[in-house]
Amino acid sequence: MLTDVKALYTIAREAGAALAAFNVYGLDVAQAVLQAAEELKCPVVIQTGATVLDMYTPFPLSEALVRGTYYARVPVACHLDHAKGLGPVIVALRAGYTSVMVDGSDLPFERNVTLTAQIVEVAHSVGVPVEGELGSIAGLEDAEQGPFTETYLTDPIAAFEFCKRTGVDALAVSIGNVHGRYEGEPRLDFDRLGEIADRVKIPLVLHGCSGLSAADLERVISLGILKTNFNTELRQAYYEGLRFVASSSTEASMRELHELLVPRVRSVVKEKLRMLGWR
Ligand code: 13P
Repeated sequence: MLTDVKALYTIAREAGAALAAFNVYGLDVAQAVLQAAEELKCPVVIQTGATVLDMYTPFPLSEALVRGTYYARVPVACHLDHAKGLGPVIVALRAGYTSVMVDGSDLPFERNVTLTAQIVEVAHSVGVPVEGELGSIAGLEDAEQGPFTETYLTDPIAAFEFCKRTGVDALAVSIGNVHGRYEGEPRLDFDRLGEIADRVKIPLVLHGCSGLSAADLERVISLGILKTNFNTELRQAYYEGLRFVASSSTEASMRELHELLVPRVRSVVKEKLRMLGWR
């Protein structure tokens, strides 16, 4: 069932686990995510990047996803990932999303505060919580590897001020996490995360969780991360399935293709959910 993300945060906290949020680009991956969560009987977040909202024009993917959650037998939040302005937020709110993210992390601090506070005002007026971001996260959200852009890690004192002034309900942090593939071993700044958690008393969010070990995930959860984002490893499972079908000498039907791709993605989702403490 479609659920307020705050209720999901409470369930995760009580379970000593972290919420998993999976980026989807269509109904097939959404199906894989819901099936995995139903198998493990745990809450889950389905999220779409702001750049994905118009991918199926004239059919609104956001509305299809919200409608789909009514059939789920576990609590599901629909979340908008990385909105850079009000436009996509309005689309998501109209569709019935139960959580939105505003990403002003490439703006100077004051402009990030202004943009985020504006979106908080709009979203809160219809009862929807907002995730903000302070500190920039390297890599691309929708592709394997982006150019390594200039990044800056979240400053714990600025994080406190940012949350106080914007009224955000959750904060995405930059502690060495990257979108896409990690170059070499991930090196997260756990001390920094601890300092942020000491000052910021709202749920903390870690983007760029593909490629993190179970030990890293366990540690960030123990330090206050309550929502984790996965995209890259789901895409990789999907692409591998496509390559497998494309290399076969016989042509698969569209149904066979679907029935091959969904379980591949579902098993990655289940693995991640287990790593986050859902059994
Ligand atoms: P990955 O690229 O590590 O899967 O992270 C996805 C993400 O953080 C989406 O916001």
